[in-house]
Amino acid sequence: PDAEITLSVNGIAHRIAVPATAPLLTVLRNDLQLNGPKYGCGLGQCGACTVLIDGMAARACTIPAGSVAGRDILTLEGLAKEDRLDPVQEAFVAEQAAQCGYCLNGMIMALKALTLRNPAPDEETIREALRYNLCRCGTHLEILAAARRVCG
Ligand code: FES
Repeated sequence: PDAEITLSVNGIAHRIAVPATAPLLTVLRNDLQLNGPKYGCGLGQCGACTVLIDGMAARACTIPAGSVAGRDILTLEGLAKEDRLDPVQEAFVAEQAAQCGYCLNGMIMALKALTLRNPAPDEETIREALRYNLCRCGTHLEILAAARRVCG
């Protein structure tokens, strides 16, 4: 049965009826039409679905929507402000850090979470933060260059 929950996404409160166990990713994409977070593995392993919950990177495919009611959820769509990209997004554009682009939501959101808690991380910390976000194209060098650019 569906449950009425309030999700606070990108600063907007949404009152919606969904199965309480529905993955947050499904609700974001299907009910709120927020398609920045991607469905990759659905198992919490690839990072394509990453969102921020209270500023921390989290895998939306494995989180029941009902469990994050009232928490502060940030998706890729919430990064840009007044037609100005977030510095993390700007760095990815500047370094042309994409091939197919499917992993980029996760890379950008994981990096955003890192810069929120540590604006100037060292190389090892950057690599650790991105370690569990998979890129099948092998664009890691450009992604790391973008990360260094925004963290420098
Ligand atoms: Fe969520 Fe892969 S789709 S971690």
